[in-house]
Amino acid sequence: MRRMGSIVCVVGARPNYMKMAPLVRAFGGQPALPPVVLVHTGQHYDVAMNERLFADLELPPPDINLEVGSASHAVQTADIMRRFEPVLDDVRPSCVIVVGDVNSTLACSLVATKKNIPVVHVEAGLRSFDRTMPEEINRILTDQMADLLFTTERAAADNLAREGIAPERIRFAGNVMIDSLLRHRERAAEPAATLAQAGIATDFLSGTAGFGVVTLHRPSNVDTPSALQEALSLLRDVAKRIPLIWPVHPRAKANIERFGLSSLMSDARIALLPPQGYLEMLGLLAHAKLVLTDSGGIQEETTALAVPCLTMRENTERPITIDQGTNTLVGRDRQRALECVDDLIRTGGKRGRTPEYWDGRAADRIAEDLRKWLDVAEVSRRAVHA
Ligand code: UD1
Repeated sequence: MRRMGSIVCVVGARPNYMKMAPLVRAFGGQPALPPVVLVHTGQHYDVAMNERLFADLELPPPDINLEVGSASHAVQTADIMRRFEPVLDDVRPSCVIVVGDVNSTLACSLVATKKNIPVVHVEAGLRSFDRTMPEEINRILTDQMADLLFTTERAAADNLAREGIAPERIRFAGNVMIDSLLRHRERAAEPAATLAQAGIATDFLSGTAGFGVVTLHRPSNVDTPSALQEALSLLRDVAKRIPLIWPVHPRAKANIERFGLSSLMSDARIALLPPQGYLEMLGLLAHAKLVLTDSGGIQEETTALAVPCLTMRENTERPITIDQGTNTLVGRDRQRALECVDDLIRTGGKRGRTPEYWDGRAADRIAEDLRKWLDVAEVSRRAVHA
């Protein structure tokens, strides 16, 4: 594969796909931009975590798959770097686009930067101020390396300014993940069909005033027996008030089994589902009375859908979902979480409003900006070589 001057777009893990799909589409719609080469690092590889989402999001299959798979952070990051370098040698792109905060984001940014290839980071400047989160380290380092940084909320520029990043490198573009949500909302799957597909008895929801949706996968919630047990006990208590639907991430599933906690789930009103496609998940979220999560993206999706979200974390890198949206931080504080659940069953909970530029056009703004930026870069490159 040699497409000199292309735009290399990198994805690695599930939350990258809904961000990259609108970008690939918008770049393709800008005739003045070079063609896209889509690289998948293979950080996520299960069919349920990949192919289904690519199809749902109308993301073309990757041009190159580095097939790194799972490993420790160091090994996974190093493997991505070793396998990504020859891709850049071959393609010699005009820039590399990375999204979000996963290990693939950091690894590919580092390789490109060392080769003097411009890095463009979409979803820059988010900070939880919690350096025990692997994603926080990935965000800080990626932003330091990026030549052009697109943000989803205005507070992100303040975080970047504090870290010494020049304002001319930063653009407020809005939220590309919400581009995907708005594009596909009409096609979202009906929750009843999703439950039936997973073999859940049709009476699971009968006689109830709706359901809640759960997602959990952060190391801080699922990687130690005590944290996971606490989280599962909380879910059991919530399920006494409202039935829960939980598409279980492979990391959480493995640990529930490993720590011998499966019995905690067996008699609770919690429907355990395998990881879902994008349209299934969107349907579940859109119809939920409440969402309990530790995901970053779902805090934003629930804000865009006006569905109350209780985030099982002590902090968030997405403060706009609290200030303007439907999000509330509850950690694993049982008392606080149950008060919030009771309140929102009674009142409907926080409604919020849609943040600025979460309007379905973020990727178009980025494509337009990138075109101008690459033009300028090309002019200065020619000037240097003249
Ligand atoms: C990664 C991201 C996280 C993101 C999450 C979404 C990092 C540091 N973390 O976490 O930010 O929110 O993806 O899912 O990049 N596994 C499978 N099949 C797969 C992928 C993973 O079974 O296709 C299992 C493996 O046991 C693996 C574990 O899940 O060891 C963790 O996968 P990994 O990619 O390391 O991290 P995530 O927890 O998914």
